[in-house]
Amino acid sequence: MDIRMIEKLIEAAVSQLDFSYTPYSDFKVGAALLAANGNIYGGCNIENAAYTPTNCAERTAFFKAVSEGVRQFDAICIVGGKKGILEEYIAPCGVCRQVMMEFCNPETFQIILAVSKEQYKIFALKDLLPLGFGPENLA
Ligand code: THU
Repeated sequence: MDIRMIEKLIEAAVSQLDFSYTPYSDFKVGAALLAANGNIYGGCNIENAAYTPTNCAERTAFFKAVSEGVRQFDAICIVGGKKGILEEYIAPCGVCRQVMMEFCNPETFQIILAVSKEQYKIFALKDLLPLGFGPENLA
């Protein structure tokens, strides 16, 4: 992927940290999802007093896009840390990986984990969710 697009996605993910709602964990996560049509959908984590309704940043971004009729995606960038301080790579939870599996090609979908614009790692979905179960299995 083009380095300028990677930097744009990192900036977009970082800007989502301002909206992260985390009164319980104070662990802030931002995501930026790149759709095949070029749109970028931001997402933040949204916690809940009952805990289990909490939505991760990644799923927030996916659900925003899908709820607007967009279902094809190329990449997602994820940043996060306690109090919104970015110190390490934040990998998507298993539930979010499964949501990615629903809409993305595991061979080509890129997951960018970033700490800064200069420090990031890129994985294919298939590497973070080997032998994933997806729509093809039910076809
Ligand atoms: N969280 C995310 O938003 N994405 C991840 O990839 C890992 C975890 C959120 C959920 C919860 O609000 C907080 O981080 C602590 O688990």
